[in-house]
Amino acid sequence: MAAVCHSRKAAVRARTHGGIDICPGAAIRHTCGAHRAGAYRFMIVPNARITSPHEDFSTLSDRPDHAAAAAFDRFDCGVDAHFSTDWRVRLRFTSDALAPSNRTLAGVFDTETSRPRARVLAFVDEGLANVAPAIVDRLAAYVDAHADHLELIGRPVLISGGERAKNDRAIFDRALAAIHDAGLCRRSYVLVIGGGAVLDVVGFAAAVAHRGVRIVRMPSTVLAQDDSGVGVKNGVNAFGKKNFMGTFAPPWAVVNDFTLLTTLSDRDWRAGFSECVKVALVKDAAFFEELSEAAPRLAARDGLAAAQMIRRSAELHLAHIATGGDPFELCAARPLDFGHWAAHKLEQMSDFEIRHGEAVSIGLALDSTYSTLQGWLSEADRRRIMDLLGSLGLPRFHPLLGRGELLDGLEEFREHLGGRLTLAMLRGIGSAFDVHAMDRSILAGAIERLADEAGEAQRS
Ligand SMILES: NC(=O)c1ccc[n+]([C@@H]2O[C@H](COP(=O)([O-])OP(=O)(O)OC[C@H]3O[C@@H](n4cnc5c(N)ncnc54)[C@H](O)[C@@H]3O)[C@@H](O)[C@H]2O)c1
Ligand SMILES: [Zn+2]
Repeated sequence: MAAVCHSRKAAVRARTHGGIDICPGAAIRHTCGAHRAGAYRFMIVPNARITSPHEDFSTLSDRPDHAAAAAFDRFDCGVDAHFSTDWRVRLRFTSDALAPSNRTLAGVFDTETSRPRARVLAFVDEGLANVAPAIVDRLAAYVDAHADHLELIGRPVLISGGERAKNDRAIFDRALAAIHDAGLCRRSYVLVIGGGAVLDVVGFAAAVAHRGVRIVRMPSTVLAQDDSGVGVKNGVNAFGKKNFMGTFAPPWAVVNDFTLLTTLSDRDWRAGFSECVKVALVKDAAFFEELSEAAPRLAARDGLAAAQMIRRSAELHLAHIATGGDPFELCAARPLDFGHWAAHKLEQMSDFEIRHGEAVSIGLALDSTYSTLQGWLSEADRRRIMDLLGSLGLPRFHPLLGRGELLDGLEEFREHLGGRLTLAMLRGIGSAFDVHAMDRSILAGAIERLADEAGEAQRS
């Protein structure tokens, strides 16, 4: 590592400053104990030595070592190099994506950079394949129909669905090994069809193989279509903590095929809408109205109503990522995690018996009620939130909320985010703000209130 300073053209060894970061032509603010601070221009020159603008080091190599070391002690500099990169996430909505005549899926693969055909290794959620076994052959037939453009490598790999996929490290290893065995390069594609858990584990494997193989997601649950599919995160659970291992890695494309949802269980169908409610609560009051109006149809599994709500939710999530200014969550504020501190803890405390979407619904009920007891959110708005969750058939309470262990969720959430605890709370529907602490007695009051309301609901 060496550089030459343009201002004086003198050279000096970089022995004690091997960690210096220099971009060609970058401006460097150089401070030196013995001299005035100033900005100088450096450029990298193979085999050159790092230069101080203040001293003539041309004779340095003739000095005894200790003299050189003393000179380096006074050479103290660094550079902040700013750069950004352009990401593009292709979000598409369609139905019956695997019908050979449907070009939506084929259209997202880029053959300019993966000539002559896009090489694709497919992973399919086993839970989906069990109820829709034709999907594997349909995928092969689809790729055949687009053989000018696509090439499927081997048979699709089946991955156990549900949270188990994120809890069992062997499943991650298998996904990674499949990418290795298929000989995928960074311009090949992983295509993953499945629920949020399978998308997360396969996404993690794709993100770390060769430091990132392109991934096309076809989410097959309501939750994965309205939220996680467009997310820039992946990961698996470890050490009893949700998403402890994972990366930020935007998908190449997301194809939401509404037809995939027809085989979902009622439970998973309902659970997925909690993320629509969440994004409406923190971002879009009008969307909350639409959800309230559509709730009976959503509960009755009206496909068109669901497609409309899922589309709006996915767009809001993606817009937050693309335009919210912090796609990789470097800052503390994370409005899309409203209700999630308790949700993640409840999932873990129930040994993942509670679905993520159900836990989110309970978390929304809890933090909305907390917001009301704090005087931030009107009781009327809280009531409307509770009513919407109820009419979607979503849970608003669980006895595990009463366990003291729940509070560990706050510290785990803080640790996961890093820095200071930051939680979104509501001051109105569609209007979130951040707090940095929770009052335990008010939180206990909110839990008691939810328990009372759940008891009343059960009695009536
Ligand atoms: N990465 C992110 O940004 C992000 C965002 C939100 C949630 N998540 C994660 O997503 C996961 C939850 O995902 P989920 O709600 O999709 O549940 P899930 O992935 O656990 O799937 C639920 C069940 O549905 C089955 N299934 C999937 N598609 C099906 C279909 N079409 N028909 C029938 N069965 C089907 C699965 O096999 C599984 O048994 C959680 O792990 C959560 O942490 C990730
Ligand atoms: Zn979530």
